[in-house]
Amino acid sequence: MIKFGKVVVTGGAGFIGSHFIDYLVENNVVDEVIVIDNLSSGSINNIKHHVETKKVELVVADLKQFDQVWVSKFRDAEAVIHLAANPEVRVSAIEPRIHFNENVVATFNVLEASRLNDVAIHFFASSSTVYGDAKVIPTPETYPLEPISVYGASKAACEVLYHSYHKLYGFSVAIARYANIIGPRSSHGVIIDFINKLRKDSSKLEILGDGTQRKSYLYIRDAVEASFAILKLAKEVKGYHVYNVGNEDWIAVKDIADIVVEEMGLRNVQYIFKPVTPDGRGWPGDVKLMLLDISKIKKLGWRPSFTSAQAVRSTVKEILGKKG
Ligand SMILES: NC(=O)c1ccc[n+]([C@@H]2O[C@H](COP(=O)([O-])OP(=O)(O)OC[C@H]3O[C@@H](n4cnc5c(N)ncnc54)[C@H](O)[C@@H]3O)[C@@H](O)[C@H]2O)c1
Repeated sequence: MIKFGKVVVTGGAGFIGSHFIDYLVENNVVDEVIVIDNLSSGSINNIKHHVETKKVELVVADLKQFDQVWVSKFRDAEAVIHLAANPEVRVSAIEPRIHFNENVVATFNVLEASRLNDVAIHFFASSSTVYGDAKVIPTPETYPLEPISVYGASKAACEVLYHSYHKLYGFSVAIARYANIIGPRSSHGVIIDFINKLRKDSSKLEILGDGTQRKSYLYIRDAVEASFAILKLAKEVKGYHVYNVGNEDWIAVKDIADIVVEEMGLRNVQYIFKPVTPDGRGWPGDVKLMLLDISKIKKLGWRPSFTSAQAVRSTVKEILGKKG
């Protein structure tokens, strides 16, 4: 098994970050993990077990401020896994500056900290939203970057920054364009939204959009395994590696609502659809149909173990405490 030395994980106290760290520590593929997180949406509880056993050091800092408290932690690191961002696509239509700062400015600072400390290997969490309303579905990595949200644009901007650092400074880069990643510890997204609404009032459920939006959902364990596969590739082959990370299939929002209602043991819930555009989107900048072509990453030997519907059901059960 390949092994990394010191690894910095930005956003490591968040949903994907904490599961990624579980994977790195449990498989003993890292010597040292430094998490840099401002705990804006992440929680120390997600990584407490590793901090207590001294497998992971947590540095609470804001990546928007370029300061030595966290920049010095990049010294002697072999790789940076950059996950910190504001992942709320919806917010970006209302307050675009948040995404510019949280995603583009913070990423530029991470790149500069890496350049100044000669960190060679990089993983960046991008998103399916970089493609916008793709006309080719499933969408391959070669499809043009035509985002329709500021969130998607911020991720595309980060990708091209990484490309320039790859060309100028020889960074070996792994970019994961994630579909919707779900599982325990997630603090945002449609499943949490539905469960919270139904806990408040189980007679009705407000659904953003007309419910026919259809997207690909990937279970967190599958996402972490895929992410590690491309991080490993960036160590083995110096280059600029871009991979879609998603599922083979997709699921409609209304079908997600049905699973949540069923797992919560509810009946006769009235669905109230709230489309914000004539074609039924949930918010301005919402991509209505998203399915990624994952044939490229499958060539690395990875494939999803859960379908989108299985990933949704499992996540709902775990959030409701129905199984471990
Ligand atoms: N979850 C998904 O479905 C999904 C899909 C596509 C892309 N992504 C990307 O994957 C990454 C991880 O997403 P997630 O779902 O785990 O979200 P998350 O909110 O759980 O994790 C983000 C982490 O970054 C931290 N953070 C945010 N801004 C920071 C800053 N300025 N300085 C330091 N720390 C900061 C937060 O506290 C949090 O711990 C993000 O880059 C997100 O855009 C996620």
